[in-house]
Amino acid sequence: MEGLTTRILFPTPEALAEATQLLRMGHLVAMPTETVYGLAGHAWDPVALTRIFEAKERPYFDPLIVHVAAGRGFKGFNSDPSGDPGLDWLAYLEQDLGLVDLAQLSVQMIAALQALLQTFWPGPLTCVLPKARPLPDLVTSGLETVAIRVPADPVAQALLQTARMPLAAPSANRFGRISPTTAQAVYQELQGRIPLILDGGSCAVGVESTVLKPVETSMGPSFELLRPGGIPIEALRASTRLPILDPQRLVPQLGERLQSPGQLKSHYAPTKPLILLPCQLVHLDLQTFQDLIQPYAAQLPQGLGILMFGGDPELPEWLQTLGIPVQRAVLSQDPAEAARALFARLRDLDQGSAGVLVSEPCPVTTGLGHAISDRLQRAARDPADL
Ligand code: TXA
Ligand code: MG
Repeated sequence: MEGLTTRILFPTPEALAEATQLLRMGHLVAMPTETVYGLAGHAWDPVALTRIFEAKERPYFDPLIVHVAAGRGFKGFNSDPSGDPGLDWLAYLEQDLGLVDLAQLSVQMIAALQALLQTFWPGPLTCVLPKARPLPDLVTSGLETVAIRVPADPVAQALLQTARMPLAAPSANRFGRISPTTAQAVYQELQGRIPLILDGGSCAVGVESTVLKPVETSMGPSFELLRPGGIPIEALRASTRLPILDPQRLVPQLGERLQSPGQLKSHYAPTKPLILLPCQLVHLDLQTFQDLIQPYAAQLPQGLGILMFGGDPELPEWLQTLGIPVQRAVLSQDPAEAARALFARLRDLDQGSAGVLVSEPCPVTTGLGHAISDRLQRAARDPADL
């Protein structure tokens, strides 16, 4: 699959023009977004869509998110990425872009969606909507719905507005691996497989968008949280009167139909085994630690990589007596700050010399702590346990 020369360019007007040219020809461009870098291709072009699945080695049953410009028409590279104030997002998606077909949604649901999108778009919220018939099945993996998001990142917006096409873009990592939050991380993942990476620096949010799906039930309309992400569930709940259900803990069992294929239990995983600790390291004793690490004891002498939370957390004394090299990566106790650095620190540990990785649980499970906890749980699962 390798063979292309992958260039990294800053998003100058010339680079954006070149990216547009590539996208029009069905090629792929990695672009920064405020969450993670995306691997973008023309959402209406089956050739581009096939290339996305191939470059990522992503199974075809996992549908893509379609990214759209924050309004009608190109307003120039340095224009305000926040888009048209007062834009009717649903009419824009249905009538201007022809991506969705909202005929089946209730009046109450339409009103609730309008309010949510008005508040959170552009931004890290993805909304799953009934798809318009002509949209290629490759985007939606044959589902009747399409996931749509309006990124707030100025480079993503500049590209969307220059290219004048909706862009299907999964995270720009190989399937199941750690999402990239810098251009260099994309390069490590997809070097030789794509022609161009636009370098917009480090992503501001650091974890993927929240995925929300409207559901009409006999009890009335509600929303389902398919993936916790950049917009916390608390913020969504504060902005809508409709119930938002969080089926998060009901992780699908093998053979059960997946609601959102991204809910595969193993995901966002380093190449080394990662063990999610039940509590902060200082509260563990040697025996418990050894029991947890037991399945990977053979790799332990190479060293231990530890992901910790807090200012300058101490290592327990019993750990030092083990006599193994330890590499630490520390994340802030503030969940928004921790989210920003999470994937980069995991990547550092994965590339270090340690044979086994352990992570403390995120000390905060509200706000962005919800998404961090979700990603750590999935990173810690055995890939054989899909
Ligand atoms: O922040 C993000 O969302 C990033 C950036 C690049 O925008 N993109 C991203 O894409 O995370 P990806 O492909 O890694 O994750 C897309 C998620 C998956 O969990 C997928 O199953 C879910 O969205 N999804 C897509 N279409 C869906 C649909 N029609 N119904 C339910 N879930 C869907
Ligand atoms: Mg992904």
